[in-house]
Amino acid sequence: MTDPAATRSRDSWATRAGFILAAVGSAVGLGNMWRFSYVAAEGGGAAFVLLYLVFVAVIGVPIMTSEFVVGRMSQESPVVAVQRLGGPKWAPLGWMFVFCGFGILSYYSVIAGWTMRYALDATRGIIGTDAGAYFQSVATGVPAIVTHVIFMALTIFIVVAGVKRGLERAALVLMPLLFLLLVALAIWAATLGGGAAGYGYYLRPQLGELLDPNVIRLAAGQAFFSLSLGMGAMMTYASYLTSKENLGREAATVALCDFGVAFVAGLVIFPVIFHFGLSSTIGLGGAISDNTVGTLFIALPAGLDSLGTLGRVVLSTFFIMLFFAALTSSISLLEVVVSAVIDGWGWSRKQAAIWFGVMIALAGLPAAFNLNFLDAADKFVGNFLLIVGGFFTAILVGYTIPAKADAELAQGMTDPALRKAWAFFVRYLSPVLLLIVIWFMLPTAWNALVTLLTLGRG
Ligand code: PHE
Repeated sequence: MTDPAATRSRDSWATRAGFILAAVGSAVGLGNMWRFSYVAAEGGGAAFVLLYLVFVAVIGVPIMTSEFVVGRMSQESPVVAVQRLGGPKWAPLGWMFVFCGFGILSYYSVIAGWTMRYALDATRGIIGTDAGAYFQSVATGVPAIVTHVIFMALTIFIVVAGVKRGLERAALVLMPLLFLLLVALAIWAATLGGGAAGYGYYLRPQLGELLDPNVIRLAAGQAFFSLSLGMGAMMTYASYLTSKENLGREAATVALCDFGVAFVAGLVIFPVIFHFGLSSTIGLGGAISDNTVGTLFIALPAGLDSLGTLGRVVLSTFFIMLFFAALTSSISLLEVVVSAVIDGWGWSRKQAAIWFGVMIALAGLPAAFNLNFLDAADKFVGNFLLIVGGFFTAILVGYTIPAKADAELAQGMTDPALRKAWAFFVRYLSPVLLLIVIWFMLPTAWNALVTLLTLGRG
């Protein structure tokens, strides 16, 4: 046997549930709550929400299925996988995936750090009355750096120790709890007076806005970020899959869970914003402010503080669960980088996780100092590059290896009509829509890049 892949023993999921749980764990995270509420606020509410749902269903599920197909077919880390399937000219796509994992984790960890501080400070009742001012005081500078470094250390520890399975068992309990807590909060939010305006903002789209390039670009970017698409994370997880599941069904399950969490989070946030008159603090309706990025971190504490001690306990519980959701996402981000370095350069897992983890922690410092840097990194890497990655994934699967991909998907998805529909979405619909989105994104992506380069130097 000369093929190293054949002799190397590779991790694999023991059960179908293990795989689904890890994929949902990667998808459900800060994206569903922190990012969803702030981008929905930026995108003007309901039109954004509707388009987001459309992108999840029409592009998200087919592209996630494609990533699953590539991962399971290759049984390799993404950098090796895309080359083995498509040839050496696909190497840049693999390295772009790694760059995205690196880049997203660098600022993701800063925000995850906020959840740790909030979980602690919530019970001490010091967030309360002026949540906007509190957010500004902890979101950047030394407090942000401390929690960012702690969070990165935890992420590295989990990826090194290979205790992911343990974390998944914890997630098995915590994620449904998080969802139940969100549902309870949504019911509470429904009892608040003045909520009607919040629901209107969140749920009643103005038809004209559905064609607004800005709303389209935000919704598409959010769909990719929240579903962990366009950067090889789902590919990596599927590469540990050996059994012949129906990958289309798995993708739909993950997408449904992910959308459900985000949607319910919105049912909490928007009534609260309107009831407590926080629209201007957050910068709703055009006047995007420094606080917009903190929408969740401002609205929720301001709302729950009105409930006194009970509210503070609920708030702290919420942030503890959000912290765990963030952790199951951050390990999938680091895993993409680590698996590439292990496969590509022959490093040990420990070496790769520690060295690259430390570099990512350092790369996150500018975001921990400056919210504009964080925002620009999120726009460029967390939005634009994911869409570009998704576009090329569709081209790879739809045009370079269509027959092989179909055969792989057929193991588990036996209905040829469904596979035909999938092929149509991957070959035609996704590339066309994604090209339009890329076109709409170019100006903001360029501005974000300029911000990154100028702030990064200064
Ligand atoms: N989907 C994760 C979230 O919503 C973030 C993420 C993006 C994770 C890309 C992996 C890859 O928080």
